[in-house]
Amino acid sequence: GHAELRSILTFTVNLARTAGTLILEGSQAIQSASDVNQKKNSVDLVTEYDVAVENLVMNEIRKAYPTFKFIGEESYSSGTRPELTDEPTFCVDPIDGTTNFVHGVPLACISLGLIYQKRPVLGVIYNPFLQHLYTGVEGQGSFLTCGTGSPMKLPLANPKPLPSLSKALIAVEWGADRGVPIITAKSNSFLRLASDPNDGVPGGRMCHSIRSLGSGALNIATVAQGSFDMFWEIGCWPWDVCAGIVIAQEAGGVVTGSHAALASAVADPSVDPFKVTPEILTGRKYLIIRKIPDTPQ
Ligand code: IPD
Repeated sequence: GHAELRSILTFTVNLARTAGTLILEGSQAIQSASDVNQKKNSVDLVTEYDVAVENLVMNEIRKAYPTFKFIGEESYSSGTRPELTDEPTFCVDPIDGTTNFVHGVPLACISLGLIYQKRPVLGVIYNPFLQHLYTGVEGQGSFLTCGTGSPMKLPLANPKPLPSLSKALIAVEWGADRGVPIITAKSNSFLRLASDPNDGVPGGRMCHSIRSLGSGALNIATVAQGSFDMFWEIGCWPWDVCAGIVIAQEAGGVVTGSHAALASAVADPSVDPFKVTPEILTGRKYLIIRKIPDTPQ
């Protein structure tokens, strides 16, 4: 119920702030040491802090909500892969934007999502470097709190209809999978988004520009805020997007998981913009998050 979600939100926000302190400590330590482990390949980084923050979060959740299930990036990659059930399930990325974290770029966050009956119902994203706290609860709106300020309802301004991709500021990510097929597909999409159609690239949209914050969760939060018009990524993990999905949807945003290419998905009215399938939460799928339902061009 509503009251229960409110109290879970209070718990989750406190947890995000506690984790944030550890992330900041880790960041200071890591700038003077070089103990970065390698995960899948040399660009998919994991630090001891990803693991420490996940353990902290997992233990606190276990104490407060012993019956809740837990899906976390680091326990998943070390083999703990619980099946998604109808039970309340926390879905957590301890540090989203690990590459930024390692390089000292202040764009990293903890992303805490709660799934109930296979749908994301609560999300908290906290960037401790900038003290930006994004929260969202199903049916109760989403908010941004900066530092000690008061919560601001999202989106921050009235979203304007997006008449075409050529008017959009679009977030994309390179991701950690640098295999040639996926990187080719991504770069071709980036090329079409960025290029002048009069310059010979078929389907070129020449959008206002392309951005990559280096954190899926922060890209989504920035869409929810109303600043980016869209975030598109191939190969998101559930913990990258779970919290963000609630925050974006509560801000009036649209989330689509689809195998359609970006441009055709925008033009394809058959893509149900409000459909969040369990597939998105359990598999690596294309993810498209749009600020507002736009007019097909
Ligand atoms: C990654 C970041 C990155 C995105 C990857 C994610 P991590 O998460 O969100 O922006 O491109 O798909 O896996 O590894 O920093 O937690």
